Amino acid sequence: MAKPTSSSSSSFHLQSLKKKKWLLTILALFSISTLIVLLIRANISPSCDDRLLYGAKDSDKILNSPSGSSSSSSRSSPLHFMKSKLVLLVSHQLTLSGGPLLLMELAFLLRGVGAEVVWITYQKPAEPDEVVYSLENKMLDRGVQILHAKGQKAIDTALKADLVVLNTAVAGKWLDAVLKDNVPRVLPKILWWIHEMRGHYFTLEYVKHLPFVAAAMIDSHTTAEYWKNRTKERLGVKMPDTFVVHLGNSKDLMEVAETSVAKRVLREHVRATLGVQNEDLLFAIINSVSRGKGQDLFLRAFQESLQIIKEKKLQVPPVHALVVGSDMNAQTKFETELRSFVIEKKIQNRVHFVNKTLTVAPYLAAIDVLVQNSQARGECFGRITIEAMAFQLPVLGTAAGGTMEIVVNQTTGLLHPVGKDGVTPLARNIVKLATHVERRLTMGWKGYERVKERFLEHHMAERIAYVLKEVLRKAKHST
Ligand SMILES: *[C@@H]1O[C@H](CO)[C@@H](O)[C@H](O)[C@H]1NC(C)=O
Ligand SMILES: *[C@@H]1O[C@H](CO)[C@@H](O)[C@H](O)[C@H]1NC(C)=O
Ligand SMILES: *[C@@H]1O[C@H](CO)[C@@H](O)[C@H](O)[C@H]1NC(C)=O
Repeated sequence: MAKPTSSSSSSFHLQSLKKKKWLLTILALFSISTLIVLLIRANISPSCDDRLLYGAKDSDKILNSPSGSSSSSSRSSPLHFMKSKLVLLVSHQLTLSGGPLLLMELAFLLRGVGAEVVWITYQKPAEPDEVVYSLENKMLDRGVQILHAKGQKAIDTALKADLVVLNTAVAGKWLDAVLKDNVPRVLPKILWWIHEMRGHYFTLEYVKHLPFVAAAMIDSHTTAEYWKNRTKERLGVKMPDTFVVHLGNSKDLMEVAETSVAKRVLREHVRATLGVQNEDLLFAIINSVSRGKGQDLFLRAFQESLQIIKEKKLQVPPVHALVVGSDMNAQTKFETELRSFVIEKKIQNRVHFVNKTLTVAPYLAAIDVLVQNSQARGECFGRITIEAMAFQLPVLGTAAGGTMEIVVNQTTGLLHPVGKDGVTPLARNIVKLATHVERRLTMGWKGYERVKERFLEHHMAERIAYVLKEVLRKAKHST
């Protein structure tokens, strides 16, 4: 389904597609489930797509709790107390974007401990939709029940549920539209999971019930602070108890990241299709192409770094830039701007574009450095950042949003300012990592260690467990 492609040249041919099939077969030998998960993992991250959870300022306490060690000797999931509980998950839509996929991951974690899980999608396309169909089937296979968004059954389930999770601010519309008079009875058991940080979400139409739910769960401290401010200043409403939940990497991603044969096969394949030699250095930005993600500024910095290398006559292997996440149809003007820049600067042989894809692992295996260049308030969390770190890649990131909570400046990566002010610092950082091999590899390793310490699925499950316990306790009190 995902067809990585170089839009800048015609380097992708039938032959490479055949090769890709062969490659996927190899990967499938490692794990069928890995493949499936990779194929549905969206790298089209919304502005917010992370979770790991800890109480606003209690992060360290929870992270260092004894149960937080990766040994998981007891083999019992931190979510085991959810066994036999009825959980209703309400998603504003069902697409291959970060928000719904995260909620699906939660659905599977809960199914894994024997919870009864019911799923509602509030906004579905009127026409039959391939993505909705395949995701729903995936859920049905794992024993998740799927209900119509509207109707008595939905209301009864909400009233009966031990816990209701609303996913994204927009899902708030479902409350009045469907529950009507029953809203007050359901509010005390709602956990509201929020993944966005853009202005238009701060509307009363979506969030007027927010102050009255049991708790909110938000992807990063920065985003939580932002919500607190904006709801108060813009809308005059108060946030409920709020928990920050950073994301963790799925087991499937970790499996590929930690299998050197798989990584090598993927690396060779992707580099061959791009026309990049094994010893060349590949700096990649993996995000849906849009101004907010800063691909334009990245290319400018990249061009500057080539200049520095040339002027100083630095002895480094050829350096390449890779932009994964192109969508000419969605961002025609911006994409055209990027292509024109590359042509104008005559760096076509050093810059590669790949269409939006759901399969990020091959690219993470193929590159040497991840660039996370999200602008303005930055990423809500930026799941690709922890995924790259799992592949032992150093990160060059903007000093904003969730990136600041993931990347340790000078240790697991280098931070630069957002905006035009960040272009030259980013260029210098690119040169730094290109010239200091040892430093680059050490940073990658340190990033990997950091992931193992706090950004794995079981860490995320622990943090979520903490929040769910709080919500259950409150719901009980209110009845
Ligand atoms: C990449 O996207 C463009 C525009 O959406 C499309 O024309 C092209 O065929 C795509 N390439 C591949 C290999 O899918
Ligand atoms: C929140 O508001 C306070 C006080 O108005 C301000 O100092 C702070 O910078 C704001 N934080 C964010 C994230 O906007
Ligand atoms: C990152 O470290 C460098 C070097 O110490 C420093 O100049 C820069 O201000 C730091 N950036 C942030 C966001 O901490």
